[in-house]
Amino acid sequence: MAGVTDFAFRKICCDFGANMVTTEMVSAKALEHSSPRTAKMLREDSTCLKCCQLFGHEPEAIKKVVEKDTFSHFDIIDFNCGCPAPKIVKNNDGSAMMRDIEKTRTVISTLVENCNKPVSIKFRLGIDGKENYIEFAKMCEECGVSFLILHARTREQGYAGEVDKSAYKKLIDSVKIPVIWSGDIKTKDDVEYAKSIGCAGVMIGRNALGNPEIFSTLQGKTPPYTKKEAIIKHLELLKSYYRTEKTLVAYFKKHLMWYVKSIECATAIKLKILQFTTLKEIEDLLKTL
Ligand SMILES: Cc1cc2nc3c(=O)[nH]c(=O)nc-3n(C[C@H](O)[C@H](O)[C@H](O)COP(=O)(O)O)c2cc1C
Repeated sequence: MAGVTDFAFRKICCDFGANMVTTEMVSAKALEHSSPRTAKMLREDSTCLKCCQLFGHEPEAIKKVVEKDTFSHFDIIDFNCGCPAPKIVKNNDGSAMMRDIEKTRTVISTLVENCNKPVSIKFRLGIDGKENYIEFAKMCEECGVSFLILHARTREQGYAGEVDKSAYKKLIDSVKIPVIWSGDIKTKDDVEYAKSIGCAGVMIGRNALGNPEIFSTLQGKTPPYTKKEAIIKHLELLKSYYRTEKTLVAYFKKHLMWYVKSIECATAIKLKILQFTTLKEIEDLLKTL
């Protein structure tokens, strides 16, 4: 998840039992131009299956970056065809890739042909009021994609309302490759339901925010450490990632707000966190938790 799944958070989710973790969406174009900020996003310390998510609409840029061996430490390359953000769609990336299936076929087949790892595609029901996910998925399968990840909302729905649960089964019945469910997974019943209709796996997004324990809970595993220890570990690991205290504090406050959501007096604590400008303030708060 963009702006959220930093390398430290991915490592913690993996410690808590996630079987696979995925980077934030990474621009193929920025990697082609060796952007140091983007290259940094490829840091990966997790011990479970590691996936890097790429986005872009230019086959040449994609071919160049996958040829560069940029992803040698990843197991899977996922390709984003679902991001609804206006700045991404305006640039013909993310869910805009669902507009012209034949054009996108060129991009995906270039990725599959030039990448020496399994490629998955993450997409939505459709864009511009058109639900073309079945046709889109069939194109991906024809390109040699290894598995599909559906977030069953349209681009226009963003993250609102509920996912269209019937879409996953329709998709499974239409393709031979595995289908992963993304969208609103929160409980063991949700996981069981996804499995019962034939999903090969589930992905957890928003419900993992401030809550890496969800991966242990849903699998009946004993958590490796406490939430407080997870917060401390997250912060410690990020100290080596952000060059200034100001950028680290600004970024980590967001995670801290999610972490404290479930604890007593969360509202009062969140109001305090909003005012934080130094690491000391964060560390002093952690001592009181
Ligand atoms: C803050 C945020 C950032 C996201 N970034 C990405 C992204 O970079 N790539 C992607 O495929 N999906 C991204 N998503 C979508 C999620 O992966 C997921 O498909 C969606 O939130 C529905 O699943 P959930 O209900 O488990 O969150 C993002 C979602 C949120 C809320």
